[in-house]
Amino acid sequence: MTRTSLEEWLKDCLGRRLEKADWAVVALPGGALQISHGTDGGEVLIEEDGSNVSDAGDRPSILIATNLDDAPEGDFFEVFTRDARSDSLFRSISNALLMHSLRVDGVDREQSLRRRDYELKEIIEIGKSLSAQKNVDSLLSMILEKSRHLIGADAGSIYVVEASSDDNDKTQLRFKLSQNDSIHYESREFVMPVSADSIAGAAVVMKRSIDIPDVHNIPKEAPYKFDSTWDERMAYRTCSVLAVPMINQVGEVLGVVQLINKKRNPSARLLSPGDFDREVIPMDARGKDLVETLASQAGVAMENAFLYVEIKRIFDGFVRASVHTIEQRDPTTSGHSFRVASLTRALAEVVHNQSDGKYADVKFDDEILKEIETAALLHDFGKVGVREEVLVKAKKLYPPNLKIVRARFDFIRRSIENDHLQRRLMMIEEGTPEQELAILDHGSQRALSEIDECWRIISSANEPTILAEGDFKKVEEVASRNYFDLNGKRQPYLEAEELKALLVAKGSLTPEELEEIRSHAAHTISFLKKIPWGKSMKNLPLFAGAHHEKLNGSGYPYGLKEDEIPLPAKIMAVADIFDALTAADRPYKKAVSLERALQILDFEVKDNHIDGDLVQLFRDNEVYRVLNEPGAAEGKIK
Ligand SMILES: [Fe+2]
Ligand SMILES: [Fe+2]
Repeated sequence: MTRTSLEEWLKDCLGRRLEKADWAVVALPGGALQISHGTDGGEVLIEEDGSNVSDAGDRPSILIATNLDDAPEGDFFEVFTRDARSDSLFRSISNALLMHSLRVDGVDREQSLRRRDYELKEIIEIGKSLSAQKNVDSLLSMILEKSRHLIGADAGSIYVVEASSDDNDKTQLRFKLSQNDSIHYESREFVMPVSADSIAGAAVVMKRSIDIPDVHNIPKEAPYKFDSTWDERMAYRTCSVLAVPMINQVGEVLGVVQLINKKRNPSARLLSPGDFDREVIPMDARGKDLVETLASQAGVAMENAFLYVEIKRIFDGFVRASVHTIEQRDPTTSGHSFRVASLTRALAEVVHNQSDGKYADVKFDDEILKEIETAALLHDFGKVGVREEVLVKAKKLYPPNLKIVRARFDFIRRSIENDHLQRRLMMIEEGTPEQELAILDHGSQRALSEIDECWRIISSANEPTILAEGDFKKVEEVASRNYFDLNGKRQPYLEAEELKALLVAKGSLTPEELEEIRSHAAHTISFLKKIPWGKSMKNLPLFAGAHHEKLNGSGYPYGLKEDEIPLPAKIMAVADIFDALTAADRPYKKAVSLERALQILDFEVKDNHIDGDLVQLFRDNEVYRVLNEPGAAEGKIK
């Protein structure tokens, strides 16, 4: 059978139906006919005597055999002889077309289900990633990137709604960032009013997506316009735009994700006008649905990220306010905690950056650095549990006690003068010769001088300097003297407590007071342990409370050994000692020079109190310079 005769034969079989516009018959090179049905896309192949048609594919085949007995083996939908009735042939072709279109539909449906399954998984994955991201900028970047990916957009930008800088009750729209697959450029943040004049603004005001197939053909009644300035400047051509608002749980719009130019081929780059003509198409309904789903997740994630930032800000503010309050109890150490925090963080960063040496393997991520810095800020928090008079004690005797001693000495002095005058009066009445009166006067003068000398010794011993051996004896000698009070009772020049305070060999504090001051480290731990720091800062109380521990185990509060002291506490110890040495002059203590401070740190290393490698890094990297930066709490190093 020739092709023409088969076509004729088929035409004869199918009659007028073959001439309908929705039928098409195509002669294939092997002599077979391909019949397709325009309405449902079904196809059927009619082979002639089983001739081998290689591109038969999944189409149902009908064989027109010359002799049924000689029909070749094969998976045919139907086998006819050439004299088959036209109506049965037509019915078979119709059934084969129907079967084919059902099969095609099935495949389409399966592909569509697979695609939806993929998109669902993608959306779930995006949701997980979004909720894990706490950094607002990274979150926004991720939202834009994922939205573009879901719809196949060439470019996009993201905006956030924030309080207006002029009026806190009003809002403004801040352009945060943009992405573009075709051109690279640096975008800068800017603000614009929340108004329906712009596409992004309209999405905020209307609280719904704005889908524009072509920004150059925006309907006249639309309130928004397209601003082509950027396109002109960058030689870009925006065409399709989809702006989707990101809304939180209580219906407030937090931002807008704006997608530009959906592409037929998502990986294509738009470089020439032809690329734009060929590739850019309007946003599709499915893509829009997906982006809207993502935007609703993004709204929740943004709300969480904003809350996280706000909580952190409140927390930082509270910590700083608490530290300020504590430091106000002792104005002479004002700013110490802030400086120690700056020094500690800077030294921790230096340790983190080491690629060789003892600390090459130590890495502190941002969370740990924050934990270390906060611990340093709060390291002396326990001073709240130390009596203020002890905290600010500058001399060995408290001022009221010194006043009492002074009043006592005034009394003794006046008593000597009174005694002298009474005796002199008596002697004059008795007619005692001038010579003896002179001896009496002289004795009285000497007694007064002795009192003055005693007072001088006390005043001198009251200073928190290191006492020489001889001075101890003098103070004890003063204390051993007696006088008579108004009741004629013998009383010592110095009470036992006063003598004990004046006999302090170094500094101004008695051993008990020293112990009370030292208790601040234990108080720091017990106070800070009461605060639920959460996972990221769980070690903070220990870091903060171990800043007075020494490598040789002689520190406090626990007498920890070198390998028991956490590294952040060792870092803090260097910062703490350095600041105590270099801080501005105090009434009882001169600030030492940078060189001297570094030398004293070396002595501390030699005594096995602090870590020598840390001191070396502190010196080599001039970590102390951080105090000259703004915000380091008046910590200029001399
Ligand atoms: Fe301390
Ligand atoms: Fe301190």
